[in-house]
Amino acid sequence: MDLTPFEPFFDRLARTGLSAWRERLAERAALRLGAQAHGDLPKWEQALARLPDLPSGRARLDDPCVGIEGVGPLDADLGRSLSAALMALHPWRKGPFCIQGVHIDTEWRSDLKWDRVAEGIAPLADRLVLDVGCGNGYHGWRMLGAGARLVIGIDPTLLFVLQWIAINRYLVRDDLAVLPLGIEDLPRDLTGFDTVFSMGVLYHRRSPIDHLMDLHRLLRPGGELVLETLVLEGEGERLLVPPGRYAAMRNVWFIPSVDALALWLGRCGFTGIRVIDVTRTGPQEQRSTDWMRFQSLPDHLDPRDSSRTIEGHPAPVRAVLIANRPESSP
Ligand SMILES: C[S@@+](CC[C@H](N)C(=O)[O-])C[C@H]1O[C@@H](n2cnc3c(N)ncnc32)[C@H](O)[C@@H]1O
Repeated sequence: MDLTPFEPFFDRLARTGLSAWRERLAERAALRLGAQAHGDLPKWEQALARLPDLPSGRARLDDPCVGIEGVGPLDADLGRSLSAALMALHPWRKGPFCIQGVHIDTEWRSDLKWDRVAEGIAPLADRLVLDVGCGNGYHGWRMLGAGARLVIGIDPTLLFVLQWIAINRYLVRDDLAVLPLGIEDLPRDLTGFDTVFSMGVLYHRRSPIDHLMDLHRLLRPGGELVLETLVLEGEGERLLVPPGRYAAMRNVWFIPSVDALALWLGRCGFTGIRVIDVTRTGPQEQRSTDWMRFQSLPDHLDPRDSSRTIEGHPAPVRAVLIANRPESSP
């Protein structure tokens, strides 16, 4: 796979205050793509090649179901081809997306998280945004819908990158990309973002303080961090380090209380730290669907006590915190 689907985005990036990083980001994305030898890649590439041309429609980025609304109903054969090609990119975790009548009912109702986040953040109009661990870019589309000037999404999971390519086949935007990069692939001197999002990533990091330091460095002085992560409910500074799995996930390292998280942010140099939301994740937000047929949250909670995971830990609660890199930050 090559960089062709990302070229319009890199051209756009070259016309922003981040132009100096175009070459290095493109090089690193190409390296990652070259190193990816996922056994399903040929199948996924065939799926992209089978995506049909569609009649023109109206883009919907400020709608819970991101996508394209047709002017009339889609021809039934065309709808079946579209649906089959998109289904070959299973599992669809983040969404939903609606492409001319095909409703990709994803595992997550990511629109619910967006509603909780969007209320409390600085207006995105004209901002340069980085979304770390962006999945297939669902929230990135919503950021464009909220007026962001350019959104760089990064995610090392190749399938999610291909899902973004599939959706962008129809939305055709050059101001959002999901680049095949982990945060560790970003140049160490990359900085200048007005807003950096890290949602659903911190608990997967083995070194959460380093993650927060990285996010701090990526922001311009005065820029805003939007941090969403699993937390422990209750007062005081507490921390859960699951000894094994957490809600069946193998890679959960640190679940702090909100007070502990705020302390970490302060130690990493952030100011203006505020909590804008704390919400228990329920089956209305995360569940198996036709588009994500594996097990999901309801299978990973104690069937006798849904306030516990199957391992006996507190069930998932997520918080959104906002913080700033100070204006005078070195
Ligand atoms: C729980 S999902 C969150 C997706 C999205 N941000 C959201 O809130 O719905 C975590 C994402 O982080 C990505 N991820 C894993 N390791 C990463 C890394 N080193 N750098 C950036 N993203 C990473 C995963 O591929 C996955 O898409």
